[in-house]
Amino acid sequence: MTNPPPIIAPSLLAADFAHLGEAVTNITAAHADWLHLDVMDGHFVPNISFGAGVIAAIRPLTDIPFDCHLMLADPEAHAPAFAKAGVNRITIHAEAEGVDDLAEALKKIEQLGCKRGVSVKPKTSLAGLEAILNQIDLILLMTVEPGFGGQKFMPEVLPKIKEAKDMCSAWQATTANPHHIHIAVDGGITQDTAPLAVAAGADTLIAGSAIFALPPKQWARQIDALRNSRDSQDS
Ligand code: DX5
Ligand code: ZN
Repeated sequence: MTNPPPIIAPSLLAADFAHLGEAVTNITAAHADWLHLDVMDGHFVPNISFGAGVIAAIRPLTDIPFDCHLMLADPEAHAPAFAKAGVNRITIHAEAEGVDDLAEALKKIEQLGCKRGVSVKPKTSLAGLEAILNQIDLILLMTVEPGFGGQKFMPEVLPKIKEAKDMCSAWQATTANPHHIHIAVDGGITQDTAPLAVAAGADTLIAGSAIFALPPKQWARQIDALRNSRDSQDS
């Protein structure tokens, strides 16, 4: 049986910040499924990227869903500003300072009208997520240490991708009217690593430099190539 193609979410972090608006319109024309927005606070991760003001400025330029990845402390306190800026999905880190009750933080995100994501760093286990899957719309598995684009994919995370997929499948099989939980991977996704992640169970691929480092004319073809990652293991 053929699985649906993975969702492709280019990460704006790798775009040319001097021409952000053009990057957003061009990535929309290249048929990206979602736009991934990496928010970094220089505290939870050592880097600082952009915040809700920049996101609000680019929101009118496209209709594609904004997938906001909050790499910051106290995500619950900051989430309302990002919802107001027009993001559709908010992913917070299970390890973040200020997240005392993950389920409670996810409930707040839902109340803001956004889909709920939980991200884990490469070495963080999935143990805390199993009991709250009913409150999660997306599990974001970091395949690099968060903080910077352009790093190398960590293959040691592959078993955890499968573990997340199996955990969600088991939950779906034992739950009445379960919703779909996306299994997303983020960091070092290229044409070489995407098939590995998809084969392990990922259905959402976040890619920064593999797309934005190319000239805009090649973005559509590159997005298609990543989307076809599943073909290598369909036969
Ligand atoms: C890393 C970010 C990623 C990053 C991916 O902390 O969460 O989204 O931008 O960039 P690449 O695809 O270049 O590894
Ligand atoms: Zn990210």
